[in-house]
Amino acid sequence: MTETTLPDGVGWTSLLTAYARAQEQDRPDATFPDPWASLLVRAALAAPDDRLPRLGPARDDGGSVLWDMFVAYFGAGRTPFFDDQVRAGLDAGAEQVVVLASGMDGRVVRLDVPDGVRVFEVDTQPVHAFKDSVLAAADADVDRRVPVVADLREDWRAALVEAGFRPGRPTVWTVEGLLMYLPPDAADRLLRDAVEISGPGSRFAVEYFRRIPEPDSIPLADEGERHAIRTILGLFEAGPEGDPASFLGRAGIRAETVTEVPDELRRHGRPVPEVIDVDHTPDPIRIWLAAGVS
Ligand SMILES: C[S@@+](CC[C@H](N)C(=O)[O-])C[C@H]1O[C@@H](n2cnc3c(N)ncnc32)[C@H](O)[C@@H]1O
Repeated sequence: MTETTLPDGVGWTSLLTAYARAQEQDRPDATFPDPWASLLVRAALAAPDDRLPRLGPARDDGGSVLWDMFVAYFGAGRTPFFDDQVRAGLDAGAEQVVVLASGMDGRVVRLDVPDGVRVFEVDTQPVHAFKDSVLAAADADVDRRVPVVADLREDWRAALVEAGFRPGRPTVWTVEGLLMYLPPDAADRLLRDAVEISGPGSRFAVEYFRRIPEPDSIPLADEGERHAIRTILGLFEAGPEGDPASFLGRAGIRAETVTEVPDELRRHGRPVPEVIDVDHTPDPIRIWLAAGVS
């Protein structure tokens, strides 16, 4: 068991997505493997057993509308889309990958990243400190992983270049689980800066909400869930303005694919939680996934 300090605030949300991925990879019909997710979650919870204790709203007993929605959304609803986009970028010749707001992301080991391609993971210091320490204690293969500490609301490009990123070279960028924590101008700036530093022919995959959900639009099971949803929604900013294609277009990216989490769940033969299903809820939370090339 590793002695570590858990990230808090927005950094803590990265443990929730890792928890969802840990549950997804335990399914017989898992849509992806994630060798790091349960390692990181177990370390966070100091959990030696098969069954994971709760983490905020996270649980593995199927007894929570909120968590069932999160696990579908973060698991089959979102992760394979980004995996596919990284593969497409690498197939098209990308020489480097940048995972913005990487959290506990395990793509660097999950995907078959070619020799010589490095995966830059940009996130805050407490998130990297926790992840570095757990991966080191487990002697995990981190050869291609390059952690970069930066605040993505500021100018983060110098830190990326200092870490070995090569400006002007074709790159795959993922922006998963981040834009809801940024105001509109910071979201636009982030994408423009990424386009500018990597040059034409780079691939970008992004996720964002149409609107911030109302806390009472989701039935909550208990005080733990109420606390979690208050924490999560309290961190939300407005995110990007406009539809996904215009958000990408403002940064000079030609949109190739625009989809939504329910469509991705259906594509994988998974049920769609009612709170994000247009057929069940008149004004559901809509979560877009979009990708394109600069
Ligand atoms: C919901 S988690 C998503 C993590 C990862 N992309 C995933 O899908 O598992 C949100 C992540 O965004 C990071 N984050 C939020 N605001 C940030 C900022 N201004 N600068 C750097 N990282 C930020 C948090 O530290 C956290 O790791």
